Amino acid sequence: MALERTLVLVKPDGVQRRLVGEIVGRLEKRGLRLVGLKMLQVTKELSRQHYAEHVSKPFYPMLEEFITSGPVVALVAEGPEAITVVRGMMGPTNGRQAAPGTIRGDFGLSRQMNLIHGSDGPDAAKKEIGVYFKAEELLDYDSPLGGTVCAGDEK
Ligand code: RTP
Ligand code: MG
Repeated sequence: MALERTLVLVKPDGVQRRLVGEIVGRLEKRGLRLVGLKMLQVTKELSRQHYAEHVSKPFYPMLEEFITSGPVVALVAEGPEAITVVRGMMGPTNGRQAAPGTIRGDFGLSRQMNLIHGSDGPDAAKKEIGVYFKAEELLDYDSPLGGTVCAGDEK
């Protein structure tokens, strides 16, 4: 089993709606470990780096306007299969199709204003962590309670 790191954003709608604590709290309560955390304003250039795969799509101008519309909270979460775990907690892109119990399904009904970003695979996670964080902003620290989160062979 792989111990993974994934890049999470609480998008501008989540910050404006005062849902940062709710969303970050869910990740923590699931057992994921925070190794980096900050608030920032996404610029157009940063948006194009992050969403490079979407730049040529028809919805990109609206996505760029949205993601640069106000501050986001960026974090790196670590845990066994963290990438898949976080994607499951988010729910599908369109909040209207997201099941109750997921973040998008509990708090949203929009395809665009969907509160949270999570890396969708190991390559994306590596790239996106590098886009949002410098190496020295990711902290390695002892985590004695980690042993209560999962067994040794799960990480
Ligand atoms: P994200 O990358 O933000 O975690 O979201 P995702 O994987 O669920 O969705 P993705 O297909 O990667 O799309 C990125 C973000 O673009 C906006 N979007 N708008 N109008 C549209 O058709 C449309 N499709 C996507 C959403 O904010 C989506 O999260
Ligand atoms: Mg995506």
